[in-house]
Amino acid sequence: MNFQLSDEQEMLRKMVRDFAKKDVEPTAAERDEEERFDRGIFNKMAELGLTGIPWPEEYGGIGADYVSYVIAVEELSRLCASTGVTLSAHISLCSWPIFTYGNEEQKKNFLTRLATGEALGAYALSEPGAGSDAASMRTVAKKDGDDYILNGSKVWITNGGVADIYLVFAKTDVDAKHKGVSAFIVEKGTEGFTFGKKEKKLGIRSSPTTELIFENCRVPKENMLGAEGDGFKIAMTTLDGGRNGIAAQALGIAQGALDAAVGYAKEREQFGKPIAHNQGISFKLADMATDIEAARLLTYQAAWLESNGLPYGKQSAMSKLFAGDAAMRITVEAVQVFGGYGYTKDYPVERYMRDAKITQIYEGTNEIQRLVIGRMLTKP
Ligand code: CAA
Ligand code: FAD
Repeated sequence: MNFQLSDEQEMLRKMVRDFAKKDVEPTAAERDEEERFDRGIFNKMAELGLTGIPWPEEYGGIGADYVSYVIAVEELSRLCASTGVTLSAHISLCSWPIFTYGNEEQKKNFLTRLATGEALGAYALSEPGAGSDAASMRTVAKKDGDDYILNGSKVWITNGGVADIYLVFAKTDVDAKHKGVSAFIVEKGTEGFTFGKKEKKLGIRSSPTTELIFENCRVPKENMLGAEGDGFKIAMTTLDGGRNGIAAQALGIAQGALDAAVGYAKEREQFGKPIAHNQGISFKLADMATDIEAARLLTYQAAWLESNGLPYGKQSAMSKLFAGDAAMRITVEAVQVFGGYGYTKDYPVERYMRDAKITQIYEGTNEIQRLVIGRMLTKP
């Protein structure tokens, strides 16, 4: 067993860390406060090749592995979780299914634009009445000659409004539950496709979350990903990898919170000594660091399995579950280490705590991760 990262993976980590420090962190608090997405940051990620990390060079990627990808999401999220999820949704949720299920033309047309960062991607599964129970969606796609006509709405869509390419799931057979779902690539600007409410959120506030509305939206049949009825399988296998992207986001948030807490505990003096010299504080830091190492091992392991063509769905659900819960515990404790100052916007730990919460909710709540893991353990 070899736990050592390769030179390429270490170099990528350093590159993303430097980029995040220089170009992402300085505006993180301000973007959070103003709920402002910055396309310029995404464009800079594109210049560095981050928008196409795992895709072959022939499709505009840099041909690295999934471990490199989770390292990038981790390093971005360490300073700005919104930027981390922008990249995670773009790569795991929109680009991955096109790379995996797309025909050559779809890959050339859509994946290349996503990989080079010319286009930003999004994934639209959830609906007002269909969150955890994704198969109960009501958006429909009715065949009409060589096109499909989409009607319905999607909610909570990350990168909504700012993305250029959307992977949209809709029922081509309304009577069949999950077997009636199909997947469509829909471009921003398509007639009948508009954006509704933008959510006002607790955390990841510089990542836009928006409603999508389809009113007689005509999509050519060439934009169907896979065959009719393949949509639910595409959605689920996409989430298998996507969940590990969220684990990486949670890991980065947790590491950022620990970094801040360690720095503060060494500097802040009470009773004539740094607060870190109290066992009550140093034990907290020790527990936080141990949780982080465990989360990192699970996350890198799931990515390694995927890179090596081995099953990774269970490990990915586990990494998301563990890292999300750990990030919540760790960020709450980081605020505690900062005392009253941690409760203010003068320090970043309150933002980390608000950002951590979402990692227990999206890409399947952590109850759903337990359901997925439990079903795998007990299936006949
Ligand atoms: N891989 C391949 N196939 C899968 C699968 C997987 N991981 N999971 C399920 N399937 C298949 C099953 O084998 C079954 O196929 P057959 O009919 O051929 O046997 C079919 O799908 C239906 O499976 P289930 O009966 O298990 O389906 P279900 O309706 O009980 O739901 C669920 C299962 C796991 C709860 C699923 O609905 C789910 O994942 N819900 C959570 C939704 C979710 O995660 N949404 C995330 C939205 S994206 C997001 O949030 C973005 C962001 O963070 C940025
Ligand atoms: P519900 O499904 O109504 O669940 C409510 C509660 O009941 C939860 O605690 C849940 O765990 C629990 N519960 C439900 N069923 C069970 C069960 N069987 N067993 C035990 N407990 C259960 N979706 C997309 O498609 N694309 C996106 O890009 C996207 N981005 C998002 C960004 C944000 C900021 C948010 C908040 C959500 C996003 N989502 C996205 C949607 C997200 O995936 C859903 O919110 C999530 O899957 C939960 O669905 P729900 O909110 O409808 O909760």
